[in-house]
Amino acid sequence: MRLLVTGGAGFIGSNFVHQTVRERPDVHVTVLDALTYAGDERSLDPVDGKVVLAKGDIADPDLVDTLVKDVDLVVHFAAESHNDNSLHDPWPFVRTNVIGTYQLLEAVRRHDVRFHHISTDEVYGDLELDDPARFTPDTPYNPSSPYSSTKASSDLLVRAWARSFGVRATISNCSNNYGPFQHVEKFIPRQITNVIDGVRPKLYGTGENVRDWIHVEDHNSAVWSIIEKGRLGETYLIGADGEVDNTTVVETILELMGQGADAYDRVNDRPGHDLRYAIDATKLRTELGWEPRYRDFRDGLAATIEWYRTHESWWRPQKDATEARYAVLGR
Ligand code: NAD
Ligand code: TYD
Repeated sequence: MRLLVTGGAGFIGSNFVHQTVRERPDVHVTVLDALTYAGDERSLDPVDGKVVLAKGDIADPDLVDTLVKDVDLVVHFAAESHNDNSLHDPWPFVRTNVIGTYQLLEAVRRHDVRFHHISTDEVYGDLELDDPARFTPDTPYNPSSPYSSTKASSDLLVRAWARSFGVRATISNCSNNYGPFQHVEKFIPRQITNVIDGVRPKLYGTGENVRDWIHVEDHNSAVWSIIEKGRLGETYLIGADGEVDNTTVVETILELMGQGADAYDRVNDRPGHDLRYAIDATKLRTELGWEPRYRDFRDGLAATIEWYRTHESWWRPQKDATEARYAVLGR
């Protein structure tokens, strides 16, 4: 099988490429990645010589056509992915997430190539803390931020191209991922690397916001289940019953790193900050038989802390510029 992975030098995409090379030697992988601030060629070092990297933009129709016409499957991870950045400058989000997805859809439509679209649970908006409900594939879209609204737009394009043009597509909406190779702008790596640097973690607002954490390896194994067994035109929600509030995440990181549980600072809240995300993954589990392997968040967090401790040369070049961006936002 010839596979094109967009965004394969980013966090989830690079882990997907590692897993694919490790477990599916019959798959020939090409990565299309613009290597923005969030993409890093070095994230593909573990598969050096085993994948082809094409540096380029998913919004470039000629490049996209050239690459798509030679593959059997596109798995589309590339996106602008950080909410805080989207509140500061939404345009790259519209361009990459909406226009880039449109260009890929037109190419897979022309060449009749199978397409899997990676998306987020944030398209559904947020839930109250005490709401027993969780997101299902029937939950109405209600995105809050430029990031989530552009991801919602891209999902709707995929649904329309599947229905109107018969594009052979599936969609997955996953909850918050953690694990190795995640950019230091994101919550968990930011706090781990702050503690390594002797800086107190930064908690937005009250810290009561809840995210439904899943290990990146589990996200990617679910994506393969959908590619292999999912029904065309369908949406699958990916989650591993990992709801934890932000204060508990910070306290656990501090404890695992040998600090006092209250050694953090509260900073300005994010405007429009979603309160709670929670996934009901029944469809994925019952229809496709998928199960997560990383069931203990504390163990997964400890392994992730160890990874950042032993891979400082990977994250160090991004740290100062990232914190400078946060300083402008007062966070
Ligand atoms: P990331 O920011 O770490 O990586 C994004 C990658 O896309 C980078 O390598 C970047 O260089 C590349 N890219 C950006 N713009 C591009 C363009 N115009 N052309 C080509 N490449 C471009 O993001 P991530 O956290 O790995 O997220 C990957 C996907 O998963 C995204 O679609 C995101 O919406 C989705 N998702 C993320 C999470 C999460 O917790 N991180 C959860 C659910 C879904
Ligand atoms: P983030 O990793 O940005 O993911 P998302 O916004 O997609 O959920 O943030 C996860 C949660 O952590 C979110 O509720 C915002 C909060 N947060 C902090 O409290 N402090 C921080 O420094 C960051 C980056 C995020």
